[in-house]
Amino acid sequence: MKSLKNWDNKTWLASKKYIAHFHKYLKSRVNFNKKTNILDIGCGRANIISFLQNKYKFTKRPVGLDVIKNKSIKKNITFIKKDAIKYLQLTSNKFDLILIKQTIHFFNIKDINKLLNLAKKKLNRKGKIIILFLKTNKNEFPYFNRMKVELNKSLQRDKVLIKIIEKNFSKYKKDNFVFKVSILKKTYIRMIKKRFISCLLNFSKEEIKSGLQEIDLKYAKKIKFSDKLCSIIYQA
Ligand SMILES: C[S@@+](CC[C@H](N)C(=O)[O-])C[C@H]1O[C@@H](n2cnc3c(N)ncnc32)[C@H](O)[C@@H]1O
Repeated sequence: MKSLKNWDNKTWLASKKYIAHFHKYLKSRVNFNKKTNILDIGCGRANIISFLQNKYKFTKRPVGLDVIKNKSIKKNITFIKKDAIKYLQLTSNKFDLILIKQTIHFFNIKDINKLLNLAKKKLNRKGKIIILFLKTNKNEFPYFNRMKVELNKSLQRDKVLIKIIEKNFSKYKKDNFVFKVSILKKTYIRMIKKRFISCLLNFSKEEIKSGLQEIDLKYAKKIKFSDKLCSIIYQA
């Protein structure tokens, strides 16, 4: 898969409101304290773990892994540019929370099994793995037609991945995270131009251009929708 560089580059996914709302979700599932040791797999610009570090002042800085090193990665965390499987194979660190948010679809099926097996071994007692992915049905992302086709393909694949994740965990809980997005159409257009989501990565410039014309005609100046995620939570 091509590199995804603009997911959290000045988008609602990097907004203070989104991160605070996500913190609220995490707080009711994880007992954070100064000793909580966190690994964020596919951390992007590390907005989430940076917020957590500011809030809880952990003794060990959260570790953020990504295969891409963006320019504006937060400084108050430990960033490691490495593939998650390679990191987990080599590290002797153990974690209370391993977060895999909107990243699991970057792995192939064989590697998901490897990743989860390694992640389970790297949990402290009662440690949790929280995996979040786009809700596979009733997805409300504003789209142009070809984008919807690619997004649906990806969501169908996610359904298979979810079954694999569930097989890997003897016990797990499932729940949802919902964020209400209100965004100017011109901001969303900029996000599409920058290919913020992986289903846009393989489009040609012309396809993006005609998609944007479609978006412009289809949506009002302000676009409102719910960004809905599902989560699978495993506890050691
Ligand atoms: C959709 S972004 C999600 C970023 C962040 N977790 C969030 O929710 O804001 C997925 C990230 O996973 C990273 N990624 C993809 N494959 C990876 C791998 N094998 N190991 C570590 N990170 C990976 C991508 O580079 C990208 O930054």
